[in-house]
Amino acid sequence: MRAALDRLAGRIKEATPDVLVMTGDILDMPDEVIAGGTPDDRSHDQWMADAKADFRQVRDWFTSTAVPFLVIPGNHDHAGAFAQIFGGPPEPRDIAGLRFFCFWDELANDRQPQRTGARKELFENALTGPAHDCPQVHLQHYMIDPPTFAKGWRYEYKGARKLKREIERSGRVRAVLSGHYHPGSLVHKDGIVHSLPPAFCEAPHGFRIYDIVAGATTMVTDHALDV
Ligand SMILES: [Fe+2]
Repeated sequence: MRAALDRLAGRIKEATPDVLVMTGDILDMPDEVIAGGTPDDRSHDQWMADAKADFRQVRDWFTSTAVPFLVIPGNHDHAGAFAQIFGGPPEPRDIAGLRFFCFWDELANDRQPQRTGARKELFENALTGPAHDCPQVHLQHYMIDPPTFAKGWRYEYKGARKLKREIERSGRVRAVLSGHYHPGSLVHKDGIVHSLPPAFCEAPHGFRIYDIVAGATTMVTDHALDV
């Protein structure tokens, strides 16, 4: 991944984006470690130290691009270790005429994603609060649309249809960017992009570029390191 990221840095330099977004599962930590234990003869503390060293490498890679970036944790990232390196859930951030909201949502006990508590409040405030009446991009690890069932799991949020309708009704959201489901997906309808790029960690190491311009249709293009 280190080599793939270095190659990606070259492509970023060519594309000169306004902002970089990574939507979670930065690492692939074992469930036992995330639950506070260890799967092998290494101690939990050693696992956590290794994870933080890896997060630090990724953070330093982002910093080296000199492009503003937003990164959120996925279900395979220990959220506490992630927050120690990248900081906690960020406040809404304005970049290039768009307001970026980061939702650190969780899986429910049945492993279907859910948006509850403070995340739900942030979502409702983004869509209806007078202070946020502006073009928005929402980042979360999990997907809202399309409904996706694979390998015995539901990948979209509980209540995803309602979340989607609320986004449409607001007229504020230009793009909903997610991760988690490695094959990826793209729904582009009524001026709103629901995008989940194919996982960068798998060959051909895909990434997406979004051109979001006021008064114009958003352009989404797929790229990969290996083509
Ligand atoms: Fe995930």
